Amino acid sequence: MTFDPAKIRAQFPIFEVPATGGAALHYLDSAATAQVPDVVLDAVRTHDATARGNIKRGVHFLAERATEAYEGAREKVADFLNASPSEVIFTSGTTAAINLVAHSFGQSLEAGDEVVVSELEHHSNMVPWQMLRDRSGIVLKYLPVTADGRLDLEALESTVTDKCKLIAVTHVSNVTGAVTNVSAIVAAAKAVGARVLLDGAQRASHGPVDVAALGVDFYAMSSHKMFGPSGVGVLWGRAELLADMPPFMGGGEMIRSVTKDVTTFADPPARFEAGTPPITQVVGMGAAIDWIGTLDQEAVTSHLNRLTERVLNGIADLGGGNGRIKVVGPQGLQERYPVISFDINGAHPHDICQILDGHGVALRGGHHCAQVFMDAMDLAGTSRASLGPYSDDSDIDALFAGLEDAIERLT
Ligand SMILES: Cc1ncc(COP(=O)(O)O)c(C=O)c1O
Repeated sequence: MTFDPAKIRAQFPIFEVPATGGAALHYLDSAATAQVPDVVLDAVRTHDATARGNIKRGVHFLAERATEAYEGAREKVADFLNASPSEVIFTSGTTAAINLVAHSFGQSLEAGDEVVVSELEHHSNMVPWQMLRDRSGIVLKYLPVTADGRLDLEALESTVTDKCKLIAVTHVSNVTGAVTNVSAIVAAAKAVGARVLLDGAQRASHGPVDVAALGVDFYAMSSHKMFGPSGVGVLWGRAELLADMPPFMGGGEMIRSVTKDVTTFADPPARFEAGTPPITQVVGMGAAIDWIGTLDQEAVTSHLNRLTERVLNGIADLGGGNGRIKVVGPQGLQERYPVISFDINGAHPHDICQILDGHGVALRGGHHCAQVFMDAMDLAGTSRASLGPYSDDSDIDALFAGLEDAIERLT
C-alpha cells in the first residue's frame, strides 16, 4: 500500500463543496467530526436500499439481512479492538458509552468510593462522574495536568488511593493532542484494584486499538470521528464486568422475560441495547472500520507528523519567540496526535475562526468541552486545527495565510 494524500482526498465528496465565499475547503476540524468517504456513504445507502428491516425481531428475509449486517458490524468492531463481539455494545456515541458505565458500573460503587478523572477530560468524561457523585456520594478526584497539556503522572501516587474504584481518562486529548501513557494509568489502577476506562474518541480514527494489550476495562469511541455516520458509537467492556452490570435503559430486546411484576434481563451485549438501535449507522460504522483498514497507518502517521510539524513550526515562527502566540499542548511530535491548539495573544478564538472561515479554513475555537482544562491553563479557550488522512500541504498553506490575516486584524 502506498500513501498518496490526493488519492485519499478524492474519496471524500465533501471536498467538492465550496467553502465560504467560494473558497476551496480546507477542513481542519476532524477532531470535532471526521469527513465520510464514498465507500461509507455507499454502504449506508446500499443497506437502506437492499437490506432495511428491524433486527432480531422478524423472520422475513429483510429482518435477517439487517440482523446479519448489524452483527457483522459488531464483529468488525470486535476485531478492531482485539475483543470478543459479546463485549461490544453499540451506543449513540462516546458520551452515551461513558454515561452507561457511570450509571451501570456506577451502581456497584458506594459513598466514599473514589473515581479519578483528569483535568484534561472532555465534559463527556467528567459530567457523568459528577452526576454519579451527586447521586451516590462517591468522591471524584482530578489528576492535574502539566504545563504542556498532558496528564501529570507524577501526581498518580498521591491521587489514586486504595479507595479508588475506577480511573477514567482520555486516550488522546481533544484539546492538546497529547497521548496518555496508558501503562502508567493501568499500573496505578492495578496497584489498588481499580478499573480503567479510556475515552478513545480521539484515538480510534488512527487505526486498530488493542484493548487486551492496553490492559484497560472499558473503552469508548464514536463512529463520526472515525469516518463513519453520526449517532452511533461503541462501549467495549471486559466480559466479566459487563456480566455483573445492571442495564442502563429498559425496553425491547434487552430482556429475557417480562411479566407484570418481574423482568429478567438478557446477557450482554443485548442487555445494554434497549430498543431499536441505529442499525443503518452501525452498518456505516462497520464500513468505516473497513475503510480505516485499507490505510497504511504507518504512512498516514508519517504524513500527519510532517504536517503537524509544519503547523507547530509555523506557529513558533509567527510568534517570533515573543510568547504571545503559542501552542497550548505538547510542543513537539512526541506522544501526540495531529490536534493542535493555539492561542494568539488572548484574541477570542471565535474571532480567529471567523476570519479563517473567510479563507475556507474550518477550525474549531472555544473551550472544546474542556472548561476545567481551560481553567487550569488560565485561558478562556483556544483555536484548534485538527488533521485527518485527507489533510495536505494546501490546508496548512491556507491555515497560515488565514492566521497572518487574523493576527493583522486582531492584534
Ligand atoms: C475526547 C473526547 N471525548 C468525548 C467526546 C464526545 O464524543 P461524542 O460527542 O461523539 O459522544 C469527544 C468529542 O469531541 C471527545 O473529543
